[in-house]
Amino acid sequence: MCGIFGYSGKRDAAKTIIDGLKRLEYRGYDSWGVAVVSSDKIDVVKKVGAIGDLSSLSKLPSSTIGIGHTRWATHGGVTNYNAHPHYSTDKSFVVAQNGIVENYQELKEKLTKKGYIFSTQTDTEVIVRLIEDKLKKEKELFKAIRSAFLDLEGRNTIIVLPTSNSHIYAVRNGSPLVVGIGKDEVFIASDTLSFADKTDKVVYINNNEMVSYHGGEVSLYDVKSGKELKTKISKLEHDDISIAKEGYDHFMIKEIVEQRHTIREAVQYSLEELTPLLEAIKKSRNVYTVGAGTANFAAGQIAFYLRRYAHINAIELKSYEMESFKDMFSNKDLILAISQSGETADTIEALEFAKAKGAKVASLVNMLGSTITRMSDYPYFSRSGPEICVASTKAFTAQISWGYLLAKSLTGKYSQARKDIEVLAEKLQNYFNKKLFSQMQLLAKKMAKHEHFFVLGKGQNYYIALEGALKVKEITYKHFEGFAAGELKHGVIALIDKGTPVFVIVSEDENKNDMMSSAAEVKARGAFVIGIAKKSNELFNEFIKTIDASELDPIANVIPFQLLSYFLGVSLGNSPDKPRNLAKSVTVK
Ligand code: G6P
Repeated sequence: MCGIFGYSGKRDAAKTIIDGLKRLEYRGYDSWGVAVVSSDKIDVVKKVGAIGDLSSLSKLPSSTIGIGHTRWATHGGVTNYNAHPHYSTDKSFVVAQNGIVENYQELKEKLTKKGYIFSTQTDTEVIVRLIEDKLKKEKELFKAIRSAFLDLEGRNTIIVLPTSNSHIYAVRNGSPLVVGIGKDEVFIASDTLSFADKTDKVVYINNNEMVSYHGGEVSLYDVKSGKELKTKISKLEHDDISIAKEGYDHFMIKEIVEQRHTIREAVQYSLEELTPLLEAIKKSRNVYTVGAGTANFAAGQIAFYLRRYAHINAIELKSYEMESFKDMFSNKDLILAISQSGETADTIEALEFAKAKGAKVASLVNMLGSTITRMSDYPYFSRSGPEICVASTKAFTAQISWGYLLAKSLTGKYSQARKDIEVLAEKLQNYFNKKLFSQMQLLAKKMAKHEHFFVLGKGQNYYIALEGALKVKEITYKHFEGFAAGELKHGVIALIDKGTPVFVIVSEDENKNDMMSSAAEVKARGAFVIGIAKKSNELFNEFIKTIDASELDPIANVIPFQLLSYFLGVSLGNSPDKPRNLAKSVTVK
């Protein structure tokens, strides 16, 4: 979702901002813009679509200060005009925003009555006019921005670039904001990855803090009181900052293959490092695991492991369906957030609810220094390296392997769990081969003519049915639905027709017989049954052999869906790394 990148230093501003925006691309966007200051004048270039053809940048004068933005449209269509940064009426400053001004209609009405003219449907334009209005009274831009920001409702982060040389302002509430401090240069951005190749010194900006950059100096203020705050510089510890396809056609397939080692990296925690969380879990009345999208399915799988192997009262919650749980949290509970980005607005809000009631917060996040990490009493990292493809693959299996280690460690089986994951990682070394890829490509070809698909799973494979279906849906735009196999007779079976593709996920476990009964029931109604299993069976029209990983089968079983999603998506001409309408980091509600 929207990305912000501001720069001041010795490098060429437009080029550096484009570099930064490209490193923010993974968040998802539909248009972009760059503004630079030169000779007390701001020039802006805005474009719909991906950052590709940079010829328009030649219109920008040479400059060493500017801001940029990648927009994921919320209010107002995807047009050059609606793209950020937005000019003030007199062109004395520009604004870019990440978030949603929830009271924009009310503010717009007030400003319209005062005579301000609006030419877009964007909520960002309301911020611009509001700052203009405040400027009449406050006179100084710093004060006007502060005052305007305090009138905004919702989670918003804004960056403001005035014509007056060597100034940038930014304010954070909700949507992420970090400042990178280099040698004679400063970066103000939505995440650390965007400048991690240029500096490892970072200042994390908290909610309701305002950054004022002027002539090489960064100052920090409390936006409510206006009081100056101390800036704390931290060191970035990204182990992997490269964003390259490394010979693969797409990030998606690269990240799928990387699972050979990422499941291992996620569990590089010593028992000592895990112990504070293990103790907190043991003391808790309930453990709520929470996340959104794929991370929610990982949260579900982790709750399953905690219940199944450690007899912990673990309940999975969707971070966007928390309202009724708000008053249920207490200081006897622990909430465990699962998130790749650590910036998902719904998940952050869920944690805020739990925190307000005194619950302890733990998290497993992939992006170091993210908001969720900083909100956590027990922060852990999945250490998968940057995941660029919008659809999550390696982060998901890393989250599951960490959850498995956590659950097993609660019953004294830490070493065994580490060994189990190591064994699976070893088996995965040779798994991604030409034969498997050809088989998946062939399956993709067969599936291409269908529009509706069903995926059934049970027990340890229930969340895999949901995630498997989500993955294929995201990349192929085809209707894939995942269900608990038990739901079949309670409704889903009405949808089964002659030739309907039904995927059944079968492990060699206590649910095998039930799964085979489900396969038989759909087959009897004409379904084309695809078995994702260890052993072939006469009920399967198609058989995809998966690694027998026993209690880690969920990891082994999700991989065929990731591959099908990729190969089918590519064969349909879709963009696997940037599927339509989706954003990787969903920083608005
Ligand atoms: C979006 C992404 C998903 C991701 C979800 C949660 O929907 O497209 O891939 O699972 O957000 O994101 P998080 O960063 O919290 O894991």
